Amino acid sequence: MNKQLLLAKRPVGVPAEDTWDLIETEIPTVGEGQCLLKNIYVSLDPAMRGWMRDRPSYLPPVSVGDVMRAGTVSQVVESTIGHMPKGSYWQGMGGVQQFVLTNGKSWYPVDPQIAPLPQFLNVLGIAGYTAYFGLLSIGQPKEGDTVLVSGAAGSVGSLVGQIARIKGCRVVGIAGTDEKCNYLTEDLGWDAAINYKTDNVLKSIGKWCPDKVDVYFDNVGGPILDAALAHLNFKGRVVLCGGISQYNATDSFYAPKNYLSLLVNRGRMEGFIVFDFARKYLEAARDMVGWMQEGKIKGEYSVYEGIENFRETFLRLFSGDKRGKVILKIDE
Ligand SMILES: NC(=O)c1ccc[n+]([C@@H]2O[C@H](COP(=O)([O-])OP(=O)(O)OC[C@H]3O[C@@H](n4cnc5c(N)ncnc54)[C@H](OP(=O)(O)O)[C@@H]3O)[C@@H](O)[C@H]2O)c1
Repeated sequence: MNKQLLLAKRPVGVPAEDTWDLIETEIPTVGEGQCLLKNIYVSLDPAMRGWMRDRPSYLPPVSVGDVMRAGTVSQVVESTIGHMPKGSYWQGMGGVQQFVLTNGKSWYPVDPQIAPLPQFLNVLGIAGYTAYFGLLSIGQPKEGDTVLVSGAAGSVGSLVGQIARIKGCRVVGIAGTDEKCNYLTEDLGWDAAINYKTDNVLKSIGKWCPDKVDVYFDNVGGPILDAALAHLNFKGRVVLCGGISQYNATDSFYAPKNYLSLLVNRGRMEGFIVFDFARKYLEAARDMVGWMQEGKIKGEYSVYEGIENFRETFLRLFSGDKRGKVILKIDE
């Protein structure tokens, strides 16, 4: 049987227990030009909260009654597609379910010799590509620039700061615990880290970014975005990657008050969606593999087990009670 997690209702605020239904259905039969994959690792992403909202976005919302959309690392169990033989591993949008039937479109090969499988949802997956293209294509850092990153100890944020350091930038992170801040400065060697729950963020950015902020990589939105805007340098760039502080909002989203800093400083604030760069993923993967092998990039992740534990694991993204990328293992 195939265990599947269906969206049962659209949540308001933090998703409650009855947001999803776990059901069992027959494992689908493989037809001509199709392949059956077993999902092993499921990527838990803040974006999944947005996909549950019934409003226009860069992807259609997940319909009530549909399998919850999610990225996966999966293995072929049966196939009539020549280039996807039985036993091979793939990365794609397999959903929160044990098995998925596909025609192979938008699945990317995974070589388990290169890195452990979960890393293909982290450094060598969407998180890594988001950090790579968001920072390098949108943020366009130059050597000596000050790069400020929020959500800095998370999956995307920690990779952004590490790439910025490779590019010769001064890097300051913003995270939610002292332990995470110590990880950024001591393990990853960043120049400074600000605990947004205990420090005065506005003042601390001024203290740790004395030459102002050339690139602000925003994962959280809300008042932290405002504080970063207040310290933007001339021609500074704000990369709008995400706004996790707003994803469970029951009211309208918090709008930035300091946006005129962009005008005064002739700055630029630009959003992006990683899927826009899909044709260039290989380019990012090559660089990321090289940097991992040289020890310049560390990809931290936490693996939790069991499709039954989806909700409590998903909510760790919002409480911050996790380290690095959050991954759910649902099969061997
Ligand atoms: N544009 C794109 O194509 C794209 C693609 C992938 C991801 N994203 C976005 O990138 C961001 C990071 O995603 P991720 O997968 O790397 O998640 P993540 O950073 O691994 O996990 C989310 C982190 O956000 C922090 N957080 C939660 N609530 C917060 C709040 N109210 N204020 C400040 N920080 C808060 C928590 O850390 P603390 O302990 O520090 O609070 C948590 O660890 C998200 O906004 C996501 O939507 C965008």
